[in-house]
Amino acid sequence: MSRLKDRLIAQIRLSGPMTVAQYMTACLHDPDHGYYATRPALGAEGDFITAPLVSQMFGELIGLWAVETWMRLGSPERLRLVEIGPGDGTLMADALRAAGLSAAFSAAAEPWMVETSAPLAEVQRRRLGARGQWAASLDAVPAGAPIILIANELLDCLPARQFVRLPGGWAERMVGLDADGALAFGLTGTPIDRALPTAEEGAIFELCPGQEAMGRLIGSRLAADGGAALLIDYGRDGPDFGDTLQALSQHRKQSPLENPGEADLTVHVDFPAVAQAARSAGSASTPILAQGEFLGRLGIGARAEKLIRSHPDRADQIGRQLLRLTDRAEMGTLFKVLCLHEPGLQPPGFES
Ligand SMILES: C[S@@+](CC[C@H](N)C(=O)[O-])C[C@H]1O[C@@H](n2cnc3c(N)ncnc32)[C@H](O)[C@@H]1O
Repeated sequence: MSRLKDRLIAQIRLSGPMTVAQYMTACLHDPDHGYYATRPALGAEGDFITAPLVSQMFGELIGLWAVETWMRLGSPERLRLVEIGPGDGTLMADALRAAGLSAAFSAAAEPWMVETSAPLAEVQRRRLGARGQWAASLDAVPAGAPIILIANELLDCLPARQFVRLPGGWAERMVGLDADGALAFGLTGTPIDRALPTAEEGAIFELCPGQEAMGRLIGSRLAADGGAALLIDYGRDGPDFGDTLQALSQHRKQSPLENPGEADLTVHVDFPAVAQAARSAGSASTPILAQGEFLGRLGIGARAEKLIRSHPDRADQIGRQLLRLTDRAEMGTLFKVLCLHEPGLQPPGFES
């Protein structure tokens, strides 16, 4: 049994069940035993694979998107190029390499990595070296210059609460103990008195306060300093119900209660709620696009052809990577893209 599991069981015995959001926070961010504090493992040998690790094309296109966005911002002399949750640093490294085509952008852009995981910040430092600066939160990135911000698969690991529709109202889903003393899902005894959408009995509704708080934080920064933020993740582009809490270890799904602190734990992103939170803080937002469509608009087809011309021996592999990122049956539709931006800016790729 994991040490965190022992501790959570003892804590629940003492103080009672915890919300799913509290459970997610402990599993992912507990400073001693949380997944991101101790063992984050990205890539083929790790627990999960993300788009920048599927192909260099992903980060390169985002680097070129950042250059075009900077030009549409009027090519400011100083710009903070911020990535929140940079993982192993691959996305930023690929983006900086592609953006290096513009010497003026490279001179203006100051790369910042916002990272809460000490082991991952170390991996990023090894990959990016002197090219970056690090902060533990967006607030700690100095204000006073426009930002271009990227966050890929960040919002899905911010804590969410779950509610279940009962005949008499909504009850919150909790993590407690079963008759044998093992971790188990249960419900609060009394229906909660907060307004949630109309739904059929048995429906599960996820409320994502962590995602909304991040939307507000980014939105207020964009309203104050200007710029744009590209948020990419798996999630919904409209109201939806269902239990999306998922644990992944070595690329296999497992029960979220099986190995707390030893598996990555995520929920789908509520993109409309994130956009609304950012707008309430003063920024504007684009329509939510499917990842496949967005990458198509940025020219991933042409980039793949060019790569194949340079590396004909890798044609099959590059073709598979293109499909993985864009196909409806793979990441193309499940993953969505939202841009938050200063009012008046037309971010590239989101033109109607
Ligand atoms: C699933 S990984 C994604 C990594 C990378 N963006 C990629 O696409 O490969 C999530 C990243 O977000 C970081 N993270 C989690 N919560 C965070 C928070 N509140 N603030 C900043 N980074 C966070 C993790 O440490 C990790 O680097």
